[in-house]
Amino acid sequence: MSTTSLPTGWQGTAATPKTAEPVGWRNAAVIEPTVQVGALRPVPASPAATALTEPASAPRETDVSRETVTDTGAVSRETSAAETAADDLPLVDETPRTSPLADELADQARRRAQLSAGKVVPPAQPRVLTISNQKGGVGKTTTTVNIAAALAQFGLKVLVIDIDPQGNASTALGIPHHAEVPSVYDVVVEDDELAGVLQECPDIPGLWCAPATIDLAGAELELVSLVARESRLKRAIDQYQREPGAAGRFDFILIDCPPSLGLLTVNAFVAAEEVFIPIQCEYYALEGLSQLLKNIELIRAHLNPRLHVSTILLTMYDARTRLSAQVADEVRAHFADQVLKASIPRSVRISEAPSHGQTVLTYDPSSSGALSYSEAAKELAAQGTKIDE
Ligand SMILES: Nc1ncnc2c1ncn2[C@@H]1O[C@H](COP(=O)(O)OP(=O)(O)OP(=O)(O)O)[C@@H](O)[C@H]1O
Ligand SMILES: [Mg+2]
Repeated sequence: MSTTSLPTGWQGTAATPKTAEPVGWRNAAVIEPTVQVGALRPVPASPAATALTEPASAPRETDVSRETVTDTGAVSRETSAAETAADDLPLVDETPRTSPLADELADQARRRAQLSAGKVVPPAQPRVLTISNQKGGVGKTTTTVNIAAALAQFGLKVLVIDIDPQGNASTALGIPHHAEVPSVYDVVVEDDELAGVLQECPDIPGLWCAPATIDLAGAELELVSLVARESRLKRAIDQYQREPGAAGRFDFILIDCPPSLGLLTVNAFVAAEEVFIPIQCEYYALEGLSQLLKNIELIRAHLNPRLHVSTILLTMYDARTRLSAQVADEVRAHFADQVLKASIPRSVRISEAPSHGQTVLTYDPSSSGALSYSEAAKELAAQGTKIDE
């Protein structure tokens, strides 16, 4: 729109030079704040509010206007009316307000400071955790790779074993996993050594991956007829930790499971001592959980007496919904000792990261998702140990 089409008055207001101000314009400007302040802030004003509206360098006219009102009694009609009106108005809460964004930034700054306080120490004994939940899409893979990345960034040696034929964890860690790549399939079906399939994550030193290839899809069937079919992964891990290869002995081994209880998941349960359950903060979150717990009980009774649920993490928490808070409360009420204090927010940055072959910790280190996963990893590392403060 050209300036010529502006309605009469607009153009004049913007373009009128100071000298052309109508008589009384300046006074109007002086009186106006007085009226507004009076209306919002009945007398007496708080010192804080006065400081905001009356800076030390306030124009001289303002002072003159006030003096006129209070000292001489030569009150202008506008001012007098405003003050009268102010007496009738309800008091307004003068507590200084901050915006939700400012609150969030302040909260994140505080959490970052807490995170950097204290050193994460390696566990006395290597810990093997299976990240499991028979419900699909709850954040198992996302949790596995991000917790692993955070632990490695704390200086620990970490291995992710991708035992899901989908190979999502391998993708998220930027590890090639096409059909020719040596993989977990070769370990569990062909009896190859674990050392032979390990690849280091390109972005994070100290983080390694045993990738899954499409071959693993057939492993469920092939395993059925093999000797010691439930404990083949355990054998490979134990052998590696006794005689570590180039990657060295791992402090943490995280096994990313498929969303089912086939022989691959059973292998993960037999190899691990701890079960780490990500729970999505959604309506159906707890459905299927009792079945998972029953299965863990069965494995403990028959195959691995040391297996226990050590950790639960709430994922995809949406602070804007009451449902998320309700699910979180319910899970915390049932599993008070296992649920980590940190929860993972629903975040676009977290879901974008895998498409770049990265974890959110390298994709967007300053994001709230990266912060939350680092907090969760620090809590996990502190379980049963003491963090050096
Ligand atoms: N905190 C989060 N915020 C937003 N999106 C998320 C978050 N966590 C996971 N996602 C997304 O949700 C989807 C499912 O996550 P993920 O693959 O980790 O689940 P899963 O339990 O491993 O699934 P599956 O059962 O198929 O193995 C993915 O698209 C992932 O990017
Ligand atoms: Mg997965």
